[in-house]
Amino acid sequence: MTDLLIKNAKGWINGELIDIDLRIEDGVISEIRREIRGNFESILDIKGKILLPGAIDAHVHMRDGNESHKEDWLTGTSAAAAGGVTTVIDQPNTDPPVTSRANLSDRIEIASRSSLVDFLINGGVERYDNIEELYEGGVRIFGEIFLYKLEPPLLRQILDKIWGLGGIATIHAESKHCVGKNPDRPPVCEIEGIKEVISDIVAEKLHFCHISTPEGVDLIRSKGSITLEVTPHHLLLSRNDIDRLGGFGLMNPPLRSDRDREGLWGRLDRIDIIASDHAPHTRDEKLGDSPPPGVPGVETMLPLMLYHVKMGRIGLNRLVELVSERPADIFGLYERGKRGISIGADADLIVIDMRDEQVIRGDELHSKCGWTPFEGMKGIFPQITLVRGEVVYDRSSGVNLSKKGFGIFLGERLSTDLV
Ligand code: DOR
Ligand code: ZN
Repeated sequence: MTDLLIKNAKGWINGELIDIDLRIEDGVISEIRREIRGNFESILDIKGKILLPGAIDAHVHMRDGNESHKEDWLTGTSAAAAGGVTTVIDQPNTDPPVTSRANLSDRIEIASRSSLVDFLINGGVERYDNIEELYEGGVRIFGEIFLYKLEPPLLRQILDKIWGLGGIATIHAESKHCVGKNPDRPPVCEIEGIKEVISDIVAEKLHFCHISTPEGVDLIRSKGSITLEVTPHHLLLSRNDIDRLGGFGLMNPPLRSDRDREGLWGRLDRIDIIASDHAPHTRDEKLGDSPPPGVPGVETMLPLMLYHVKMGRIGLNRLVELVSERPADIFGLYERGKRGISIGADADLIVIDMRDEQVIRGDELHSKCGWTPFEGMKGIFPQITLVRGEVVYDRSSGVNLSKKGFGIFLGERLSTDLV
């Protein structure tokens, strides 16, 4: 049995920062007190720094497989660990795609060999006859479902199948019809996509990925239980940055106007989660004639947002809800974040020093792609990241490569509320 004492933390407990010591046994928080004494295998004195639950990034594309030149599970989860993300939810548009039981098993195996953080693998559905086999393989989250690849009637069949099994569907909402007519994907394509999906839905398990327009947020919010995410790039970059960024500013849905960007900030209290849509492509690919859409973001999501906490644009509590509590809640990871720092919760924890601002430099980040659309912006990166009580990243020594493969597939541990 391993036994760790974290001393002198300002721990985030029920929305307040409280002076605590914390005992961790076998990766689980077992005691929280003002002061804990005794003999421990190891002691980590964090000297009054902030201790938060690790972030859950509900939208990453870790690539690997036949796209390991862009990213692999080791580099992608090194980026996660260095950015304070202790659980990632991987999207299935991989090469090969996660559209069969066999491919799912292969994907879990590849990830298990290298991942530094815990992970879920979503199921890929562009037809409905593979949903059952993915479900039997442990998939409960299906998507992101690319709306712009599907006719609405087929989407309906797919959703009914997912919900019939008790699964949750996540949707990339850009209408096929609209994108066909408007290849530059204006805001109206997102609005039309959302309308196509929600028009006759009452209360199903449905989540919208990376909503980029304030109108989109309002439409979804008008439908009770449906949830939505927003990315840091849609909060912090706009069309005005495209001249400067060129292909490095290209992603789907695309960057919007400054008015839209500000509209998202104005609605931070109406969104459910922030997720990165970490979608790395190589520098050469981005510099080519038709750069593929997507930007890396798993390492910079929390640091950028923590900097905005410091600037007073968002409260620390709200941020922890957006990156930790709500994603755990929505995707059934009840031991991860939702219960925050509490007895019985997994010790997925990050140590933060709000004084430690860094200028973000792509070549200092851990993603294989080596660039970031947030170059030159400021972030507050974690000092230490722990997954189930093990240090996977320490600012002074870097990524703990001896923990390669420590991350586990959380499919078996999903809350039964989802099923
Ligand atoms: O910009 C994007 N890149 N949007 C997506 O929906 C997919 C992603 C990718 O996989 O590269
Ligand atoms: Zn995506």
